[in-house]
Amino acid sequence: MASSVPEVALRSCNARPMPALGMGTAAIPPVPEAAKNAEATKGAVLAAIEVGFRHFDTAYMYGTEAPLGDAAEEAVRRGLVTSREDLFVTSKLWCTQNHPDLVLPSLQDTLKNLKMDYVDLYLIHWPVAIKPGPPKLPYKKEDAVPFDLEGVWRAMEECHRLGLAKAIGVSNFTTRHLDRVLAVATVPPAVNQVELNPVWQQRTLRAYCADKGIHVAAYSSLGGQNWDGTGNAVLESEVLAGIAKARGKSVAQVALRWIYEQGVTSIVKTYKKDRLKQNLEIFDWELTEEDRLKISQIPQKKVVKASGLFSQEGEFTSAIDPADLNIVEEYIGYC
Ligand SMILES: NC(=O)c1ccc[n+]([C@@H]2O[C@H](COP(=O)([O-])OP(=O)(O)OC[C@H]3O[C@@H](n4cnc5c(N)ncnc54)[C@H](OP(=O)(O)O)[C@@H]3O)[C@@H](O)[C@H]2O)c1
Repeated sequence: MASSVPEVALRSCNARPMPALGMGTAAIPPVPEAAKNAEATKGAVLAAIEVGFRHFDTAYMYGTEAPLGDAAEEAVRRGLVTSREDLFVTSKLWCTQNHPDLVLPSLQDTLKNLKMDYVDLYLIHWPVAIKPGPPKLPYKKEDAVPFDLEGVWRAMEECHRLGLAKAIGVSNFTTRHLDRVLAVATVPPAVNQVELNPVWQQRTLRAYCADKGIHVAAYSSLGGQNWDGTGNAVLESEVLAGIAKARGKSVAQVALRWIYEQGVTSIVKTYKKDRLKQNLEIFDWELTEEDRLKISQIPQKKVVKASGLFSQEGEFTSAIDPADLNIVEEYIGYC
């Protein structure tokens, strides 16, 4: 079955264009529970392919690379897609792998998990380096080590040169981190994947990325999976509920449509087939100017922070500046 999702051409990339809506596969907690949920992930990815998803987001940290790869193989076997080339698969280098000599072996492990020859997009998951070791959360603060951003980016470029990552990019990078990558890059990042939704609109970062030709992808497009324990500010937004009622759409569809209208790719997580289908139904209608104005006035709140990777106890070593961990872009008032 063909997919009706519009696609975005990425810069510096041999990959197929990126579908403007992708399915997320992160669970809470990501490790080690994800391994127990492998069958659920495989089934959900197959259901997503059946309803029209072609873009899938995973990460070494999520423990969902292997079931995603199993689902891709089965989708080809069952004729749901012609070949692996029909799919756009993103994975990410975890913080414990954020060391120049570990980048290529980490991608090779990821490809083994996925049973694929290449990923369409490989991202540095966080601009944070942690001592090498197995994925887990949270980390002790003393396990954070200085991040050799320039060295890691050169190793990412090597993965791209070898054809193992058709496109390379970053995640959770601020304009300051991007300035440093762009200063040394011969292959500039194609994508920056960040928390972005109507309640955290990232206007400053979006303007910067548009200027530099970096495509923005949104995670937690629907407000995330209650990552900070305070509920979901997107799905519970009264402004979005009002717009949804007026348009005869769901709150989720209004949020995803707004993100699409900003030129941003949404990565959205649900394993429920009816919601997967609903999330795809955002490309044949538009928000009104009035809707957009109301959304632009929603009070802003960021949920996902790098400090959340670490337990509250303990101290960072003197080589780490904790202020570097939670840089939040200055909020500028335009849309
Ligand atoms: N790069 C990073 O650091 C980073 C960080 C976080 C996430 N991500 C990626 O982005 C993906 C998505 O972000 P996220 O997992 O934070 O959450 P999200 O996509 O914002 O989803 C939040 C919740 O929305 C619910 N939902 C989905 N579709 C819905 C619908 N149509 N109606 C009502 N509720 C709906 C889901 O609940 P149900 O599951 O119950 O349907 C889900 O728990 C992740 O899975 C992961 O792949 C990346």
